[in-house]
Amino acid sequence: MDPDRTQINLYLAPLRGLTDYTFRNVFSRHFGGLDLAVTPFIPTLDTSRIKPSHLNDVLPQNNHRLPIVPQIIGNRAEKFIPLATRLFELGHETVNWNLGCPFPMVAKKQRGSGLLPYPEKIEAFLEKAVAAIPNRLSVKTRLGRKSPDEILKLMPIFNRYPLKEIIIHPRTGQQMYTGSPDLETFQKCLTLSQHRVVYNGDITSPAVFQTLCTRFPDIRHWMIGRAVVANPFLPAILKAGRDDFAVKVETFRIFYEDLFDHYRQVFSGPGHLLDRMKGFWTYFSRSFQNAHRIRKKIHRAHKLQHYVEIVARFFDQEAVWL
Ligand SMILES: Cc1cc2nc3c(=O)[nH]c(=O)nc-3n(C[C@H](O)[C@H](O)[C@H](O)COP(=O)(O)O)c2cc1C
Repeated sequence: MDPDRTQINLYLAPLRGLTDYTFRNVFSRHFGGLDLAVTPFIPTLDTSRIKPSHLNDVLPQNNHRLPIVPQIIGNRAEKFIPLATRLFELGHETVNWNLGCPFPMVAKKQRGSGLLPYPEKIEAFLEKAVAAIPNRLSVKTRLGRKSPDEILKLMPIFNRYPLKEIIIHPRTGQQMYTGSPDLETFQKCLTLSQHRVVYNGDITSPAVFQTLCTRFPDIRHWMIGRAVVANPFLPAILKAGRDDFAVKVETFRIFYEDLFDHYRQVFSGPGHLLDRMKGFWTYFSRSFQNAHRIRKKIHRAHKLQHYVEIVARFFDQEAVWL
């Protein structure tokens, strides 16, 4: 079924180390199609004094182009509440709770997906936090830590609270990014949920999106992460239902150079800048022929000047958009 394009809402997924405010602003200057971004997570703090630098990514003055929902990771309501309240004072009427982070270091502290096997802890958190925060709460979750069935016990709990929406990436934490999204369990979640559900995971092309729209005709809200970084044309193409972009390499290069210039101003040392750009090229390279070759060359660069030369030569002589 062809989706009604006017009804499609596209969210940028939080990608820590990639989709910070610099990326979001530069993206929005060059491309369209996104309606909102959930920010990479902000951890809760042990102190009630929240330094402004902790909130840099979500300050209104850094975010005038794309609406955002700040994300918080933590498992203690009494630490979550002051942070959410501070975000409300900054104008953020919705905050997102991270129940998806798969990394063992995080999960073993019962944060992110590490909290999913403990429905009673999630309920106790919601009971305290929802009543105390002035914001609406949205949740971003995986299906479970170890088993995709863990979420089936959580949906009735989520139904008891006035959540804004539930964003589901249908993998387990242990899966990390392997395998494919479990669409059968996602369908069960849809049936169980009384809240708006947002689908997230592996939307990499118009064809994949079309298949998902056909399978889940009631979903209006979709979240995309890695594929937006790999192919920043994608959100506008999905919204329009067609690809009107003619000169992709040239347009992408202009965007890339703007992004690089902005990160030059953000990072004081060349090492940090180089690391950040290497992180981007892990994804950028996926949209070009011979992705592996350019990725390898870039990852081998140890000096910023060498990196700049490799990228310039790539755009001048080699780059072919897939
Ligand atoms: C490098 C990286 C960083 C991520 N950081 C976050 C994060 O801060 N918060 C979060 O909820 N999810 C995070 N995720 C998960 C993504 O938001 C998203 O759920 C996942 O990539 C699946 O969507 P995609 O297939 O469209 O990328 C991260 C994923 C990656 C690859």
